[in-house]
Amino acid sequence: MSGQELVRELSKEIGKLKKERNAVILSHLYQRPEVQDVADFVGDSLGLARQAAGTAAEVIVFCGVHFMAESAAILSPDKIVVLPDEHAGCPMADMVNEVELARKKREMPDATVVCYVNTSAEVKAESDIACTSANAVKVISSLPEDKPILFVPDKNLGSYIASKTGREMAVWDGFCNTHDRLTADDLMKAKAAHPSAMVMVHPECRPEVVGMADVVASTTGMIRFARENSAREFIVGTEMGILHPLHKQCPDKHFYMASEKLVCPNMKKTTLEKVRRALADLEPRVDVSREIRERAVRCLDRMLEI
Ligand code: 13P
Ligand code: SF4
Repeated sequence: MSGQELVRELSKEIGKLKKERNAVILSHLYQRPEVQDVADFVGDSLGLARQAAGTAAEVIVFCGVHFMAESAAILSPDKIVVLPDEHAGCPMADMVNEVELARKKREMPDATVVCYVNTSAEVKAESDIACTSANAVKVISSLPEDKPILFVPDKNLGSYIASKTGREMAVWDGFCNTHDRLTADDLMKAKAAHPSAMVMVHPECRPEVVGMADVVASTTGMIRFARENSAREFIVGTEMGILHPLHKQCPDKHFYMASEKLVCPNMKKTTLEKVRRALADLEPRVDVSREIRERAVRCLDRMLEI
């Protein structure tokens, strides 16, 4: 069987199993093209959290990384949440844990703790409010001015929102090792090769890279920008999975990766075969204990209200 025939066959089986299980498939924009194509909804972290909170399905198959599936389990505790590859984690989310965070909070007892959604359920349980790259500026701007802010774990996103809002913030020392790999030198070379292209970057990139961009946006924000902007060429400073929806939604425009290094190996762990197996077995499941969930849901709900 050719590669394409296999994709067609697996996609058909997945569609059938999805109906039998009353399942919804949610996919992040960094997933493999064929995985995005079997999903009911493809989006950024914020859009996916909203879908997970609102779905009527009994089963959520989360094609993304662990913290995303965990957020779905926190927001929809009565659903079965499956993550097709249980090892699909996010190294940045692992750069802060609840013990270290609790220690830092003792040093800053008055601080409002803002966690990037790329964190574990335990870290969310220790935080006051969550944010994603799409709403981080809004979330920070909504906080009382007379209280210090502690932001975890992404130092690059933290530095970007501090500069956009003018708010002083204590920022954790974490980073995404996919986005942080993109250097100013890489971007300079891409700009020299495509001088008419607009530059779009994710705020998880280094400050010097962010400073060279025409637009800084979440993954969904970049797609919207490319669709609505009259430019024909764009340099893309985020994970390469986004090229698939960009090409689909803007077929007459040209997109160039800022660097070939922009690949998140964890996002690529999900395959169609694993999605099929996850639907058939309803495994591997992502569960959050009631004690942690009850504390963590407050910080996600507070974000979704904004
Ligand atoms: P978005 O919220 O923009 O989808 O980003 C999630 C992520 O993991 C970026 O690396
Ligand atoms: Fe985590 Fe970076 Fe991968 Fe996003 S791209 S899931 S932040 S490692």
